[in-house]
Amino acid sequence: MLTGKRILLILSGGIAAFKCHDLIRRLRERGASVRCVMTPAATKFVTALSLQALSEDKVYSDLFSLTDESEMGHIELSREADLLVVAPASANILARMAQGLADDLATTVLLATDKAVLVAPAMNVRMWLHPATQANVETLRARGVAFIGPNEGAMACNEYGPGRMSEPLEIVAAIEAYFMGRLPASEPPSLISGPSVIRMAPETMGGAIAHRPLVGRRAIVTSGPTREAIDPVRYISNHSSGKQGHAIAGALAALGAEVTLVTGPVSVADPAGVKIVRVDSADDMLAACRAALPADIAICAAAVADWKVRNAAHGKLKKVPGAAPPALELVPNPDILATLSASGPQRPALVVGFAAETENVVANALAKRERKGCDWIVANDVSPATGTFGGDRNTVHLVTISGVEAWPTLAKDAVAEELARRVVRHFDKGGAAAAS
Ligand code: C5P
Repeated sequence: MLTGKRILLILSGGIAAFKCHDLIRRLRERGASVRCVMTPAATKFVTALSLQALSEDKVYSDLFSLTDESEMGHIELSREADLLVVAPASANILARMAQGLADDLATTVLLATDKAVLVAPAMNVRMWLHPATQANVETLRARGVAFIGPNEGAMACNEYGPGRMSEPLEIVAAIEAYFMGRLPASEPPSLISGPSVIRMAPETMGGAIAHRPLVGRRAIVTSGPTREAIDPVRYISNHSSGKQGHAIAGALAALGAEVTLVTGPVSVADPAGVKIVRVDSADDMLAACRAALPADIAICAAAVADWKVRNAAHGKLKKVPGAAPPALELVPNPDILATLSASGPQRPALVVGFAAETENVVANALAKRERKGCDWIVANDVSPATGTFGGDRNTVHLVTISGVEAWPTLAKDAVAEELARRVVRHFDKGGAAAAS
């Protein structure tokens, strides 16, 4: 996807600069070329030699180098790039960019460029949250500079919070998103006010995790449609195939979780290594979920019918010639997700719902997360054109309290695996109050 793309990687001073070795590797694996520019401070953290070895290109840092200027002037540096990436971006370089300073090669290139700029901030949490930095970020954002991160987490300075540079694969995702025409330049960087949307690209999903990290965790997954009886032979249902829910159950089990899959009637194969409870109605699904408690994780992927028929007939309703068709009275079904999300001693530590929407996917998902009381919502567009219902692929947004991630269209198995990895990371972080 990045074949032939030329990235000018500008490193400013920060401990996160060491991640640029991996970033360069990942970009080059994908066919991009990388040329590095370092600020003087960056040279204190990584060597030009290592960047040169990995990029297989000259590394530039001196604004006043006659040799460099004769070989490759600072204007050429940006002219010959398709995208400028500032990573790590220190508070200092953000301030200099916002002010339009050009007091070293990096800032001179940034001021002289007419190319898109993507910034991956990395700094101490207080520096990031300082109003001066936030004002600089706002200024840059208003000028069309795009941001990726920073992430929240433990920092080299022994503090915790937003300020960690995004991981190399996240930065690669943002770069790919740019070349796909989807860089969220006009959206606020994460963790300032309200959720920002971080777009993820296929190759960036994943990442190493320990072997079977969910051993000892219990999970409940609901999947498929429910059937609400009209009479013994007729029912109300929907087109849910169960593919996504079953894949999630399988992915959690593959990582070692003890999974109970509560499924409505589906024709997909049972995933390996899970306990299957087959149900028809929403009432039965809720009862089966309750019976599977306690659990650490609940993922409600079932397309539960919203209504059931009051007093479903015990015998088959007869078609009487000339008589009016039977009037069905519908009553609401229990909300399984909301029930499992309700606080109490048996509430699973992590409750995840799905939001199948045909419009305003993100806005509706945000509202649904609040309304249902769950921790995460996986929102998917099920408008008929997407082919999500019954199809093998899914395009989802992951909505958490920290923000919104737009995932690329992935196979449902890949969505499941990525979600399972997110679950692992959530518990790795201590499962802190559903905050991530
Ligand atoms: O309210 P809505 O059906 O849009 O919410 C979707 C989410 O809620 C899904 O996670 C679905 O599994 C769950 N849900 C549920 N019980 C219901 C309705 C929806 O668990 N009765």
